[in-house]
Amino acid sequence: MSQVPQPLNSNPHYLRLGGHEQVVRLVDAFYRVMDTLPEAAVIRAMHEPDLTSTKAVLVKYLSEWMGGPKLYTPERGAPMLRRRHQPFRLDASARDAWISCMRLALDEVCTDEALRMELIAAFFKVADFIRNTEDGGGERAHPGRPREIHPGDPAAPHQSQH
Ligand code: HEM
Repeated sequence: MSQVPQPLNSNPHYLRLGGHEQVVRLVDAFYRVMDTLPEAAVIRAMHEPDLTSTKAVLVKYLSEWMGGPKLYTPERGAPMLRRRHQPFRLDASARDAWISCMRLALDEVCTDEALRMELIAAFFKVADFIRNTEDGGGERAHPGRPREIHPGDPAAPHQSQH
């Protein structure tokens, strides 16, 4: 059996989606949907009216998260998404609203159904990991070490060579 190590993420989600331009389209579609979907009104209200800088940060994050160029951590440091979302009340309905926006955005931007399903499953894990509010309003304890939150490389930080 060959012992040659295989590169991690040799076909990263970033490339499968279509690269930078497609990540930008995805983020634009995501926030456009968030602006219009009734069940997303609560999470839209957690954001500033002007989404310009929020979009730019999400593009950088998703580029890196999907195995593309590392645009986020050099600028913002470790993602620590649970901590960064602590100011917001993220319960199951906020999580599901976020996922609905992303699902519709992916439907619009990504023609590869298998990729859409993989990404939504991975997004769901992140969204549920950062959920900090139980149904009924109580604080939700940290669920433990994050697991399987990268689409291509479940447990470890991204090893992309970009
Ligand atoms: C569960 C539902 C979620 C809600 C309601 C939510 C809401 C928010 C809000 C209000 C901000 C602040 C925006 C700003 O200050 O401009 C934010 C930041 C951010 N969110 Fe979420 N979010 C959710 C899930 C997610 C998920 C699943 C991801 C990643 C896959 C994510 C990635 C980010 C990133 C990267 C930032 C910027 C962090 C930084 O400041 O560097 N969010 N989110």
